[in-house]
Amino acid sequence: MANAVPKHIGIIMDGNGRWAKKKHLPRVLGHQQGAKTLDKLLNDARGMGVEHITVYAFSTENWKRTEDEISGIMGILREYINKYFRDYANSDFRVDSVGDLTALTEDLQRDIARLKEVSKDRTGIHLTIAMNYGSRDEIKRAVQKIAQEVKDGKLEVSDITEELISDHLDSAGTPDPELIIRTSGELRTSNFLLWQSAYSEYYITDKLWPDFTIDDLKDAIKAYQNRDRRFGGRNEVSK
Ligand code: IPE
Ligand code: IPE
Ligand code: MG
Repeated sequence: MANAVPKHIGIIMDGNGRWAKKKHLPRVLGHQQGAKTLDKLLNDARGMGVEHITVYAFSTENWKRTEDEISGIMGILREYINKYFRDYANSDFRVDSVGDLTALTEDLQRDIARLKEVSKDRTGIHLTIAMNYGSRDEIKRAVQKIAQEVKDGKLEVSDITEELISDHLDSAGTPDPELIIRTSGELRTSNFLLWQSAYSEYYITDKLWPDFTIDDLKDAIKAYQNRDRRFGGRNEVSK
């Protein structure tokens, strides 16, 4: 039997640079087009039954890029966060983030906090933006929080379960993604949702992120629906 539509999809939005290069444009225009693609996709995905979407916008490793490119990406993040804030009366998205926001500028941190606050009771798609996000960093911070709680006598070592660890990650409260999509063909996770994707299905497409459309999303969901998810068990009728 086909799997249901995934409730949570993670997207590694890769290929903005290659898209720009192909068109002889500066990389930042690739990021600009990538943001437009996401904006359109979120609107087109309404009503499909997908409840949570987590998008990888900026990784803990992306600070290795040039100052120009980083400030271009941060400017686009600010622009879209403010756009969603301005449009909030007409929008039903709930916006969240994962990642260590303390490394972002104070005004960006404030804008994100403000958008999270105004959108927290909305019932449309729950959009989580991964900003200055790295799974290893997220797990490290979770371990630090847990260790502090043990030190303070609020937890026993034996209270540390898989569920407790999940609850200390930035993604606490959001179910694990059933499907992770990566555009632009790279066969790696690049530090995205390592803990949460233990049993996610991966879908890799060669499409560059700025060219990704709702039909590509539907193809990814169809492929997911035909996967045999075994979770370490056996689905065939036992003989
Ligand atoms: C993804 O596109 C966006 C970010 C990493 C911020 P890239 O900028 O990585 O695009 P490519 O991989 O160079 O084509
Ligand atoms: C992953 O893409 C990060 C984002 C899409 C934000 P990268 O382009 O940074 O990943 P690598 O360098 O190819 O692994
Ligand atoms: Mg890339």
